[in-house]
Amino acid sequence: MKKIILIIITCIHYSISADEGMWLLTLSKEKYEELKKKGLKLTLSEIYNTDSASIKDAVVLFGGGCTGSFISANGLVLTNHHCGYSYIQRHSTIEHDYLTDGFWAKNYAEELANPGLTVSVLESMEDVTNKVLLNVSEVMTETERNMIISNNIKKIIESQKPSKFTKIDVVTFFNGNVYMLVKYKVFKDVRLVGAPPSAIGKFGGDTDNWIWPRHTGDFALFRVYANKNNEPAEYSPDNVPYKPKKYFKVSISGVKENDFTMVIGFPGKTNEYCPSYTIEHVMSINPIRIKLRELRLEILKTAMDTNRAIKIKYASKQASIANYWKKWIGELEGLKFLKVVEKKKEFEKEFDGWANISYTNIEKYGNILNDFREVYKNYTPLAIKENLIHEGIFGIEILTKINLFENIVKCNDTAVKTNLKIVQQSLMGFYNNYIPIIDKQTFIKIFSYFAQNNYLINEIPTINKLNRKFKNWEECANIIFNNSYLTSLQKLKELEKFSPSKIKKIITNDYLFKIYSEVIYYFNNYLASRIKKYKTTIDSLNRLYTKAQLELIAKEFYPDANSTLRISYGNIKKYQPRDGIIYNWYTTLDGIIEKEDTTILDYVVPEKLKTLYYKKDYGKYAQNDTLTVCFIANNHTTGGNSGSPVLNAYGNLIGCNFDRTWESTMSDYYYNPDRCRNISVDIRYVLFIIDKFAEAKNILNEIEIVDYN
Ligand code: ARG
Ligand code: GLU
Repeated sequence: MKKIILIIITCIHYSISADEGMWLLTLSKEKYEELKKKGLKLTLSEIYNTDSASIKDAVVLFGGGCTGSFISANGLVLTNHHCGYSYIQRHSTIEHDYLTDGFWAKNYAEELANPGLTVSVLESMEDVTNKVLLNVSEVMTETERNMIISNNIKKIIESQKPSKFTKIDVVTFFNGNVYMLVKYKVFKDVRLVGAPPSAIGKFGGDTDNWIWPRHTGDFALFRVYANKNNEPAEYSPDNVPYKPKKYFKVSISGVKENDFTMVIGFPGKTNEYCPSYTIEHVMSINPIRIKLRELRLEILKTAMDTNRAIKIKYASKQASIANYWKKWIGELEGLKFLKVVEKKKEFEKEFDGWANISYTNIEKYGNILNDFREVYKNYTPLAIKENLIHEGIFGIEILTKINLFENIVKCNDTAVKTNLKIVQQSLMGFYNNYIPIIDKQTFIKIFSYFAQNNYLINEIPTINKLNRKFKNWEECANIIFNNSYLTSLQKLKELEKFSPSKIKKIITNDYLFKIYSEVIYYFNNYLASRIKKYKTTIDSLNRLYTKAQLELIAKEFYPDANSTLRISYGNIKKYQPRDGIIYNWYTTLDGIIEKEDTTILDYVVPEKLKTLYYKKDYGKYAQNDTLTVCFIANNHTTGGNSGSPVLNAYGNLIGCNFDRTWESTMSDYYYNPDRCRNISVDIRYVLFIIDKFAEAKNILNEIEIVDYN
């Protein structure tokens, strides 16, 4: 990977805070020296090296959006319980409820396959900016530019001869100023090896999510399988455990305040160099998204609390809705508390001065901030509507599946029945975890809320008509859901008895189908092209603004997160969330016992864990009879870093990253070293659970434990 080193031209007041940043693993010499000064004991080539085994080979992209790491010579992968959650759920039934009871395979044969789950291992990253920008000139329009770029990218990817076991991406860094070719090997046979019960892996649940102090044992174990040549393959019973180039040794020597830590993973998306206008935009969108999710969560809570089967079916969906709902609330508070808009505006004042200093600057950068202001003025109201559709209307689950029915409505009569079968087939999994009554309640909540606020009521004819026709949305929903054939597999099967033309008619007249079609029509005809236009403008302004900042700032820059492999570094540290409160840097098993509340599901403690606690049966994982559960550090992380290995100065594993504190949730836009802390589960707690709680000696035996360093 070519290093991105940025040159200083003029310097104005702007600083990247100490320890801020998610850096490419090919650290610059300056950055590497800084890390060494902070305590790092590894050489650069031990971190990233394409010729021999290095850390990059031990950190994997788990599924689409999490990180994992190899922790044994036999392809054992450590990630978070919440990253494996939907897979654990899919294996769970009331009889074998692995969500509640946990799961531990006693041997390879008991490990459970997970169709669709992949683990991707990075092969290489290479700067291809020149190839991507070939034939691009500064005078062309954004549309022309984008067309040339996407053609160039297509050619680059094709020249790599992608296969079904490779993932070849060309990814932009610094908002369109740098491009990299990123190649992965994709493993498709990934099996569940072990997961603690949710009362450990999700202890504290949504109540504690994004919160410190935390006591969650948020880990799960999977294994990557390969063919006999150690290459990726489709699932087969003949596959064998993959032998990774590198895996992490696990350190039980313990962590102390101020220890150096690194988090290596695949952070998803940040926007650190944006103008104040982006922050204002986020601050106007968040309250709406929060409200819409709140409405949906209320319904789920009531339903899940009353029935165990519903609880299992909706566990994973509920967790993902709740996760960002809470994140956005914290983010909004953090942006306000830190006065991020004001701070950005201060910077912008200085920027303006610089941008107007010379004719060249004026020509290139003189208008950026004005242009940003103008474009957001137009874009924000549309984005609000987009969110009303996305988080509101498509929060009604069935509406996200109606597109499949279009194939039936649009096809020749002769194909109707075959297409109906295809739809039934593709929706089987969906219906398995779908309860129409819950969706009906959501429908009522969302549309009543829309009606109260006059959201989209006048824009979508059917919604308008229903709003006038019925006394209330409850009455309306009862009729729509009772009459619909689209809300269960059984009802879909009933459709088979009708003639093809009748089937088409029934679907077309179904109110759910009508609402879906009209919403899509409205979006495509009234929103999509304008949204695209404004987003393109924002992208191009971001490119320019980032370029200007690169020219301007006297420090090395880190590129915003873009799901590529990064290293964040820092130290284990306490923090002061508010005046008069200091949060300690670690939590212990004592805190789990303290939090226990048998009447609140989030705080139920498994009996066996309590027995171990009272006997102080901690094996070699405790110090002075105290077992650390989680710790915090100021590593700059974001969504996607879940499951990331947390390493000490020697590159040994000390924890598994799983969250940020409430006070850090705004760090995707603004990192603050005093407030930002990532939360990790201490690896000794993980080993304790595997060893003492699960007594999974087979798993423990394959992990290489070091008790020095
Ligand atoms: N907040 C963490 C993350 O963003 C953990 C989420 C687990 N989900 C939950 N709803 N508790 O992924
Ligand atoms: N839990 C998050 C994830 O799934 C990590 C928390 C964060 O956003 O920092 O990646």
